[in-house]
Amino acid sequence: MRSSSTSATAALLLTRVLAVFPHLPVIKPRQDNSICTIGTGQNGECMSTSSCADSGGISTVGFCTGATDTQCCTYGECSASGVSGLCQPTSSCDGGSTTAGLCPGASNIECCTYGLCTVSGVSGVCQLKLLCSGVTTAGYCPGPNNIECCTGSGPTPCIPGVNQATLNLTETSEGWSPTPYPDPDGNPTIGYGHECQTATCSEIPYAIPLSYADGQLLLQSDLTIAETCITNDISDSVTLNPNQYGALVDWAFNVGCGNAGSSTLVRELNEGEDPETVVSTELPKWVYGSGPDPLPGLVIRRNAEVQLFNTSTTGVSHPPSC
Ligand SMILES: *[C@@H]1O[C@H](CO)[C@@H](O)[C@H](O)[C@H]1NC(C)=O
Ligand SMILES: *[C@@H]1O[C@H](CO)[C@@H](O)[C@H](O)[C@H]1NC(C)=O
Repeated sequence: MRSSSTSATAALLLTRVLAVFPHLPVIKPRQDNSICTIGTGQNGECMSTSSCADSGGISTVGFCTGATDTQCCTYGECSASGVSGLCQPTSSCDGGSTTAGLCPGASNIECCTYGLCTVSGVSGVCQLKLLCSGVTTAGYCPGPNNIECCTGSGPTPCIPGVNQATLNLTETSEGWSPTPYPDPDGNPTIGYGHECQTATCSEIPYAIPLSYADGQLLLQSDLTIAETCITNDISDSVTLNPNQYGALVDWAFNVGCGNAGSSTLVRELNEGEDPETVVSTELPKWVYGSGPDPLPGLVIRRNAEVQLFNTSTTGVSHPPSC
């Protein structure tokens, strides 16, 4: 009784509002690909359960209208450089940052993160309250008010991730294989150049043959090592935009953190020399394998890194903003 009289009142109110403001849009039932929000606060898209399953999502009933088969499709959790987040439609990542390549689903489904936070000297991650296994505190995070600072649920390193232009460069340079193959040294390798511990790569936490999405997750986690050493080796007095940071991460990923850390390149950057000059002089020297001649693949990769480094873009990836 109560709910039907409430909705009757609401309908009457809407009729009145529309009479006063005849140009107000009529609220449409949620149908395919409109944004929906499930009980935890995670955003998804209304779609048929079969499209959702095909795109790697999970359907939840009760948050979309239209056909009964139209349900809210969400895509689970993700982690961008150690900051946990949710795979969500980019348009619904209100006030947060989106990172491509970490989620299943269509290309508009990206990893939505809200960065790091500190409450009384304890660092945490800004995330949905309901997904926090530690303590949540309001008032320390951007985004909607169900995003709070989650502390006490594990270490929260402040290591920026790389941008899409860098991921593209690394993926192109490493090449792709959904199944294990021996690299030039005979080491079993899979995905975007991930070196395995066993011949069948059975230790990786993904199904083989690898999907592109899982391959990108594996690459992201491999890149964390290079992101960490570039972040730590380069002095905070050196400001790098996302392209510059990414170019150096790709280089460190390729040559190893030990070589990068003891390089003339890093030393000269830290001494305050002009970054574009240092990088365009020093990077092209890193083109040798064990033989006396430059390796063509490395020459191409170094040129692409210098080009990326020199390509202007907005934002600051280094020093990290937390
Ligand atoms: C990355 O590569 C994809 C596919 O080739 C392309 O569509 C996209 O524009 C590239 N993004 C950047 C930022 O270079
Ligand atoms: C990058 O910038 C440096 C310094 O301005 C310049 O010497 C170099 O030629 C540039 N390289 C490319 C590939 O744009």
